[in-house]
Amino acid sequence: MSVEQALTIADLKEQARRRVPKMFFEYADSGAWTEGTYRANEEDFHKVKLRQRVLVDMTNRSLASEMIGEKVSMPVAIAPTGFTGMQHADGEMLAAQAAEEFGVPFTLSTMSICSIEDVRSVTSKPFWFQLYVMQDRDFVLNLIDRAKAAGCSALVLTLDLQILGQRHKDLRNGLSAPPRFTPKHLWQMATRPFWCLDMLGTKRRTFGNIVGHAKGVGDLSSLSSWTSEQFDPQLSWKDIEWIRDRWGGKLILKGILDEEDARMSLGSGADAIIVSNHGGRQLDGAASSISMLPRIVDAVGDKMEVHLDGGIRSGQDVLKALCYGAKGTYIGRPFLYGLGAGGKAGVRRTLEIIRKELDITMALCGERDVKNLSRNNLHKDV
Ligand SMILES: Cc1cc2nc3c(=O)[nH]c(=O)nc-3n(C[C@H](O)[C@H](O)[C@H](O)COP(=O)(O)O)c2cc1C
Repeated sequence: MSVEQALTIADLKEQARRRVPKMFFEYADSGAWTEGTYRANEEDFHKVKLRQRVLVDMTNRSLASEMIGEKVSMPVAIAPTGFTGMQHADGEMLAAQAAEEFGVPFTLSTMSICSIEDVRSVTSKPFWFQLYVMQDRDFVLNLIDRAKAAGCSALVLTLDLQILGQRHKDLRNGLSAPPRFTPKHLWQMATRPFWCLDMLGTKRRTFGNIVGHAKGVGDLSSLSSWTSEQFDPQLSWKDIEWIRDRWGGKLILKGILDEEDARMSLGSGADAIIVSNHGGRQLDGAASSISMLPRIVDAVGDKMEVHLDGGIRSGQDVLKALCYGAKGTYIGRPFLYGLGAGGKAGVRRTLEIIRKELDITMALCGERDVKNLSRNNLHKDV
């Protein structure tokens, strides 16, 4: 089956499973500990019921909208994900190009394989950059400056990873970038020949934003200890100030899941918050993103833009988040599965599937403009 034949994100996931070595496929398809929050993110979308309306003019529909003042062809951005260049060779560059052609924002992770400069070199419109705050502040300042120099139009500051949640699959798989060459790892790669061929054609196989930029990380042997020690457990609301000042552009806070934290973010000068639990990869047992969205919108939605990620697997899920008041959404695993399944064409297919599902669902709900969706399109008591 080619990516063009995939009808659902689940189809792309199965294609990716067959094309990407197990350790990297499972890096995407995993959550912390029992994976309860990872599952709840998806399952809770199914509990939200849509109001079907009939005999409404459905012509001239529009999915176009804005996120933080930027025009988007639909309010669905690509979420920042680490190791993306391990799902497919040069993965971040290909996904950024697919997003640009589709007219949606692409967010590059600090922990990407392709560097900020690599992605800049293959795109013509500004992309967004996600920042992890490391203890090595010089490295962080330099990273912010590099994102500025590359013309990034938003900084997405991730707040929910001051220490790492544990994913059992990664530990069992012995995940690393570049992969280790034990018999187990070699077997996983040998059984994925197309992935290997693509990988042999690129030199980008480790963390491109870090190696050669962080003090003491000139080569790969020093990298793993640096990354595991570097996330800053003391990061606080005060730090947002110097980050915001150094950056000087649009700022999005990622990882808010509580009304109180949402209210705290009002004074931070941020332009938007992302309701997120890191795709269920950090605090297992936390509530799903969609279940927290209505209260967070009620708490701050009239003063600040609220976005959502976590568990979106269809255009219907996007629509439900918009109905609850999100101005934008992000997809993590759906684009990773598309990328693993077929590189740039696979990411394009992911976006096409979501766009079509969003459009048809909106029409059958009796709406023609994505900006008009509201809680009125959902059942309150079904
Ligand atoms: C494989 C993977 C790697 C991720 N890496 C990062 C990262 O480097 N920085 C970050 O802020 N979030 C990261 N996330 C979280 C995503 O940005 C996003 O919050 C999450 O994927 C949304 O859930 P979804 O995958 O169900 O769409 C990662 C998620 C996945 C699945």
